[in-house]
Amino acid sequence: MAHKLALIGFGGVGQGFVEILLEKSTKLSKEHQIDFTIVSICDLYKGSLYRPEGLCLDDVMSVIKEKGNLEAYPDQPGLIRGWSSEETITNSNADSIIEMTFTDVTTGQPAIDHCKWAFKNKKNVVMTNKGPVALAYETLSKLAQENDVQWLFEGAVMSGTPALRLPEATLTGNDITEIRGILNGTTNYMLMRMEEGLDYDSALKEAQALGYAEADPTADVKGFDVLYKVLILANVVLGYPLKREEVICKGISELTIHDIEKAKSLQKCWKLIGSLTVTENGIKAAVQPEMVPYDDPLAGVTGAMNAITYTCDLSGPITLMGAGAGIKETGFAVLIDLIQIERSR
Ligand code: HSE
Repeated sequence: MAHKLALIGFGGVGQGFVEILLEKSTKLSKEHQIDFTIVSICDLYKGSLYRPEGLCLDDVMSVIKEKGNLEAYPDQPGLIRGWSSEETITNSNADSIIEMTFTDVTTGQPAIDHCKWAFKNKKNVVMTNKGPVALAYETLSKLAQENDVQWLFEGAVMSGTPALRLPEATLTGNDITEIRGILNGTTNYMLMRMEEGLDYDSALKEAQALGYAEADPTADVKGFDVLYKVLILANVVLGYPLKREEVICKGISELTIHDIEKAKSLQKCWKLIGSLTVTENGIKAAVQPEMVPYDDPLAGVTGAMNAITYTCDLSGPITLMGAGAGIKETGFAVLIDLIQIERSR
């Protein structure tokens, strides 16, 4: 039976996800017996469509490419236009909601409300937004559990690089004693370029031009983007309800060329590190630039790549490296979450 999906928010990641489904649907169906059908797309700016039997994805992509909005989608029997996100989540026949709205990370809204409506209506949620997981993990996971639905968000940390799945799937039996990661591509790229001699402002401009930075790059350079990812890791991986105010947070904006040169002379390089250390009194968490010795795996992470090291009592340190952002990569994160839900249905 097809797994019905509703997409809430249809920006770059949403459109990328539709392209992934178009490209992979035959493989998913033939090799894994999984059929995903998009019944609804709802976007504040591009309009909304709902058809209980499913939308034609080729038409969706062609109207987006030609006209930029969903209003030009051809009329079909049973097609409903103009539903709000609440109507889509509450009234559609979707089994799972894919939440990809432009959500304010400091409040987690509107994604938090979208999760609540979905869970109360017995719908799973897959999301890529960090805010709801960082700020409302306990409340939302409890609500999902009470309603017997799943809430997955692999894309919230390191996009399609499975940083959240790795410990759950492969480290069971270990005690994780420390997590350290390069969790922001913008600042990692900037630090690399500054090491190569570029000044701070030019390095930031380059990172923005390459599309790595958030709309407001303050979140990247001041460390807030990493702070939210650290909160997610604490809650989800370590099961510890860490709060924003408990994390020391310092970005890279005060690093000077002199600091960079000093690190080089010590055979080290600066990295913006998000870290969580398990202590007898709870979790010690920080986001700050650190001088990392060249022989640490994190020192070899260049450009906009991300990496995370889980240090465990039995296995020792294990490092995972991969993309931390990108449309295809984030679309892949959505896909693996959906496959997990489908396999447990
Ligand atoms: N601006 C972020 C980064 C995107 O540079 O890593 C992913 O959260």
